[in-house]
Amino acid sequence: MNRGLRKNLTSYGDADFSLFLRSAFVKAMGYSDDALERPIVGISNTFSDYNPCHGNVPDLIEAVKRGVMLAGALPMVFPTMSLHESFAYPTAMYLRNLMAMETEELIRCQPMDSVVLIGGCDKTLPAQIMAAASVNIPAIVLPTGPMVVGHYKGEVLGACTDCRRMWSLFRAGQMAEAEVKQVNAKLAPSVGTCMVMGTASTMACITEALGLCLPMGATIPATHSERRRLAEGTGKRAAEMAMAGHPLPSDVLTDRSIQNASVVMQSIGGSTNGLIHLSAIARRVGHPIDLDEFDRAGRSVPVLVDLKPSGEHYMEHFHQAGGVPRLMKELADLLSTDVPTVAGGTLADSIASAENVPGQDVIRPRSKPLKANGALVVLRGNLAPRGSVIKQSAASVELLQHTGSAVVFDSVEQMMQLLDGPDLDVTPTSVLVLRNAGPKGAPGMPEAGYIPIPKKLARLGVKDMVRISDARMSGTAFGTVVLHIAPEAAAGGPLALVRSGDLIRLDVPARRLDLLVSEGELQARAREMGPRIHPDWDASRGYAKLFLDTVLQADEGCDFDFMVKRAADETPG
Ligand code: FES
Repeated sequence: MNRGLRKNLTSYGDADFSLFLRSAFVKAMGYSDDALERPIVGISNTFSDYNPCHGNVPDLIEAVKRGVMLAGALPMVFPTMSLHESFAYPTAMYLRNLMAMETEELIRCQPMDSVVLIGGCDKTLPAQIMAAASVNIPAIVLPTGPMVVGHYKGEVLGACTDCRRMWSLFRAGQMAEAEVKQVNAKLAPSVGTCMVMGTASTMACITEALGLCLPMGATIPATHSERRRLAEGTGKRAAEMAMAGHPLPSDVLTDRSIQNASVVMQSIGGSTNGLIHLSAIARRVGHPIDLDEFDRAGRSVPVLVDLKPSGEHYMEHFHQAGGVPRLMKELADLLSTDVPTVAGGTLADSIASAENVPGQDVIRPRSKPLKANGALVVLRGNLAPRGSVIKQSAASVELLQHTGSAVVFDSVEQMMQLLDGPDLDVTPTSVLVLRNAGPKGAPGMPEAGYIPIPKKLARLGVKDMVRISDARMSGTAFGTVVLHIAPEAAAGGPLALVRSGDLIRLDVPARRLDLLVSEGELQARAREMGPRIHPDWDASRGYAKLFLDTVLQADEGCDFDFMVKRAADETPG
């Protein structure tokens, strides 16, 4: 079997010469023949000055390398794309699939017997897992870990739930500009990922629930020495996996582990984005998530983790309370615990390692949940024939059943222009509608679904309204916000037919989102509108064209249609 440096030889028509040449070049970096006989562990380097959430990656790489060498293999670091939510225009989601493709091809084309994927900021872990699933060589994930919390005037603060809360206070005129500037310096006190249950934390917990990282990998703070020891342990395991040739992602990513991840996502008050990413991962391995099934399962999974934005605490508190293993102990009867993990055992072994922390109140017992039902609800109706999602655990209870008249914005730009104008015809009971902000419409489905409360209402003390869109929302945000409407307006969805003044009914208990306009009237509007508007952005060439032509809708995970695993596909190797 070809392994180590002999894997994936460059094609010169003479394999021995290819190896000879490769050895000559790698010796230029000072490697000995002994090192070159070892199995190779590739380590993806996603450090970037544009990505503070990955600011600890150089330290983690050193620790991973140490672990790899302690176990007798050769570590080789390679750079990949790095995506940060606040540094990617128009939105990091537009680039997730590009990062997945790039990471996949770099794993595939370079000699490595296993790979350590170091990621953390929202889109990075999904992209890396999608890549690993498609290449299918032994792979282990090392999350960068959450930031530690900040403090301001005795209050504990964190990115980015409190970023939004403080900004809302400023918009409502309840916080002065000088003070909001002071707060700005306290919201992200260290490197690492956002420390609330946003998308990064959700994806890290999902990664651990899937069995793709070592126990406690989701929650150890980014700056703690414990994370470096976890990195060393990850390197050791990666070396063992390189020598053994297993487990493969296809051994770990099964329908049962994906179901486990769904249960954990519901119980942590997970980000709505997590559902899109898990759907994309699931389609890479041929186990698509059925949204109705996901919703049904959510009815029997309580929210147990008391973290912002659904609750009160932050990731380091979740860690101190026992982290994902302790949570899974609480959920064990809802999980398949005999599934394998990259740690070398089963999920049951991870659960058995859970620490019992007396007096902790972050991971609730089943008898005293934070919310009786799961965080995420799937809604259907004549406005969302292929589904939409709301995070009910972070919504206002009194708005979960609401009928109001629509105030429609045709694009993110139009919303920004009109929202705060004194002439906007809006009341606290209106339903704010944003369209053409889906995967094809915006492009990349920006996190614009958290439509700000119009200034004139915010100043009257209005804190929440029903908002609906084909966009996404940051997992750190909160409110009665319906997202991911599929199909999106730009792809012919009925959201395109809504007019300001129409009545819209949201009924979360009944799982419905409906436009109260007759079918005949909707058909007449569709005829009048003709073929749907082509998205108002240049997609005539390059990645933009590939994206527009092939991106799937939100209910299918927004992967490219040619990247998902079809039923008839062989497992790629
Ligand atoms: Fe990177 Fe929040 S911006 S995790």
